[in-house]
Parts: sequence; structure tokens; C-alpha cells
Amino acid sequence: MSTPVPGRQKSIDRIRLRSLMSSEEQKFVAEHPKSAALYERAQCSLLGGVPMNWMKKWAGKFPVFVAEAHGAHFTDVDGHEYVDLCLGDTGAMTGHSPAVAAEAIARQAQKGITLMLPTEDALWVGEELARRFGLPYWQFTLTATDANRFSIRIAREITGRPKILVYNHCYHGTVDESFISLRDGVAGPRRGNIGPPVNPAETTRVVEFNDLDALDAALAHRDVACILAEPVMTNVGIVHPDPGYWQTAIELAHRHGALLLFDETHTICTGPGGYTREHALKPDLFVIGKPIASGLPAGTYGCSAEVAEQITRRIQLEDCDTGGIGGTLAGNALSLAAMRATLQHVLTPAAFEHMIPLAKRFTDGVAAAISASGLPWHVTRLGCRAEYLFQPHPPRSGGEAAAAADFELERFMHLYALNRGILLTPFHNMALVSPATTSADIDRHTEVFASAVRELAS
Ligand SMILES: Cc1ncc(COP(=O)(O)O)c(C=O)c1O
Repeated sequence: MSTPVPGRQKSIDRIRLRSLMSSEEQKFVAEHPKSAALYERAQCSLLGGVPMNWMKKWAGKFPVFVAEAHGAHFTDVDGHEYVDLCLGDTGAMTGHSPAVAAEAIARQAQKGITLMLPTEDALWVGEELARRFGLPYWQFTLTATDANRFSIRIAREITGRPKILVYNHCYHGTVDESFISLRDGVAGPRRGNIGPPVNPAETTRVVEFNDLDALDAALAHRDVACILAEPVMTNVGIVHPDPGYWQTAIELAHRHGALLLFDETHTICTGPGGYTREHALKPDLFVIGKPIASGLPAGTYGCSAEVAEQITRRIQLEDCDTGGIGGTLAGNALSLAAMRATLQHVLTPAAFEHMIPLAKRFTDGVAAAISASGLPWHVTRLGCRAEYLFQPHPPRSGGEAAAAADFELERFMHLYALNRGILLTPFHNMALVSPATTSADIDRHTEVFASAVRELAS
């Protein structure tokens, strides 16, 4: 984390920022003619010109089209090579196409992709998930979103309660109940929520992270089936829990009859057993997706023996395929082969021993550049994930982190980096380290970041 230098903090000159941005936009367009042409062609067949709407959010006028990706790097169709610190927004935290996973996927693809029957890989993966995360029983999905949705259903079913509780400015995938936020303390649909089925205030309670009194008051209504939470917020910048927060929060949840569902889809960056294992926490339900199969669609959710016992009693054989959990392709042979290879050979303790010091190298470099520039920013880290934020101190809540966001400034930082061969996630200022990332990759980012802040602050 950087320490702000008293009396030296500068604010951003917006006129200068716009002029710098305009030069970056021109440079981007001039250097990516093939991506520009593909984007123009895509307008005729793809809604908005992209295969998935988030891909519009990249800071250039259009997304760069990828030729190929290996490890921590990719090349675009115009022949530029990039250091990838976005890594598919964590889907490729393993690095792109790690050889051992690619081989397992190719092998399984020759032997059957999906059967709606189990393969032995499912057992290996279930046993490994139990060993890593401490929950004994597991099921599979294709996405973390689905794993969250099914876990919420289970929590509702066994508690008989209608609501869930989330933290302001959380993100847990496209789970309807979670698209809620607080505006002036009032809960309502989150900005940009497309076609909400009902006002999420009907299904969800929302409180600020690190506010135990608010959590206690919300749970005291005794209508919350589960808290759905990242143990450290990562989707509005990184927001760490106060020391002891989770111990008290878990105690409060259980005292008020609610379950705790940890979504470790991003916080797996903490270490091989996620934040849960690193901090010896005991959630009732647990979700992870994204990198667990090296980027092949796969998600999983685990539960405690008590939850397993209660839900098993309630599922009737005759209706088990129409109860709202599960999916035709979930638990397919290909995803499971990929998960096995990933857990056994890619997201290993040794990999984290490589990744975490590199993320520290990232934050050290960025902190030094921030300090030299006098800008009132800070940088923070969770395991192999790092993030800089446009305020001098770490936020304690999602609301505080969201208030420090600066879309215009963020886009400049992203495009400046992209034009110099560095890809950051298109959301806030997040960088992730993979097992294939090198210190040269990190130093390249530091150099480019330092140059960007020098230009902004001069
Ligand atoms: C913490 C967390 N949970 C769940 C999801 C949903 O993942 P997916 O879009 O793969 O379903 C995301 C996606 O960004 C996430 O950040």
C-alpha cells in the first residue's frame, strides 16, 4: 500500500486529461486497423458488434481482436503482443492454455464431452475440493453465477426464509437478487440493472461491508436465508475486511439463523485454499468458478455436512431434474477433466509461491510511482491480485470504494497501458498475476504506469 505524502497531493487537471486521452485514442485507432475492420464487420451480425456486451467496455474505440494467447501474453490480429494482467477477468488466472490442462482437455474431447453420467474425474475433483476448502460435499455447474444461484436456492429451501443479504457494490455474477445497491441509505435496483424481475429490495437486504451494526440489524429481521459475500470485496476495487470482521459476522449470521455463502471466485487469488483456508473460516456454502478449469466453462459449489443432510432430505427423486438446481451440461466430462488437471498441476501451492511475490512486486512498483507523482492514490493487494484506487487510503466499504471511482481517469490509464502493450481489466484498476507471468512483465507495467502518472501529474 502506498503512503500518501502530506501536503503534496495533486488533483487531476481535466483539460490536460482529455487532451492526453485524445492523443491515446488516435494512437490506438492508427495502430489497430485490422481490429477496426473486424469490429466494423461485426456490427452486421453481433449485437453491439461484440460477442458479449462487456467487451464494449475496453477503453479504445473498439476491442482488440485476439489472434492467440499463451501463458501471460497474447497477440492481437494487428500483430501487437501484450502482457495480459486482465487474464480474462480471472477466467485465465492459470495463464492462457496451460499445456497440462490443454492436453487433458484434448484427451477427454476424444473420449466423450458430455453424457449426463459421472466420470471418475468428478470424484477426484470432489475429494480435492474438500481437502482444499474444508467443505465435504460438492456439485458442479458451468459458471460461478449458476453456482451462486443454486446455493441461494438451497439456503432458502432449508431455512424457509425468502431473502438473501449482500454487500453494497458487490458482484456475484448475474444473480438477480444481487443487483441491488444503497442510494442515500435506501436499497433499490443497482444503476444499469437491465429488466429486473422485481425490485431487488423485495428479495435482498444490503448493507455496507465492515459495518457489523448494520449487519446485525439486517439479520435481526430473521428473514435472511444466507449472506452471499466475497470474503474480501474485489469487484469495486479491493476492500479488505477489518481484523476479526468475519469471525463476528459468522457468529451473527448463525445467531440470527442465517447461513454464510462465500463466493471465492476471485478471492482464490489469496492462495490454493482461498481466503477461507488461509484464515481458517467455516462458511456453510462455498462457490468458485472462472479459473478452476483453466478457463473452460466450469463452476462448483460445496456445502457443510449439516447443509448436505438437510437439503438431501428435501429433494424428491421424481422431481430432482425440475427443482431449479442443476443443468444439462453441468458436471460434464470435459469440464471435470479440465478441473482435475488445473487443481492437480496448475493452481498448486508452488504456483502461488511464484505468483504472490510478483503481485507484491507490482504493488511496490506502483506505490513508488504514486509516491513520486504526488497523486492522492493508493495501491493494495490480495494474494496475486493487485489494484490501485484514486483515493489516498484503502476503502472500508463498497460505497466508499465506488465513490472514489473515476471512469474518465480509469479509461485513460487503461488505454495508455494498452497502447504500450499492457492489458488491465476493463473494470476498475485490477491486475492479476498468473503462474506464467514473469518479473519482466511486472516491471514493464511499472514502467508504463510510472510514465502515465508522470504525464498526468506534470
Ligand atoms: C466474485 C464473483 N462471483 C461470481 C462471478 C460470476 O462469474 P461468471 O460470470 O463466470 O458466472 C464473478 C464474475 O465476475 C465474480 O467476480
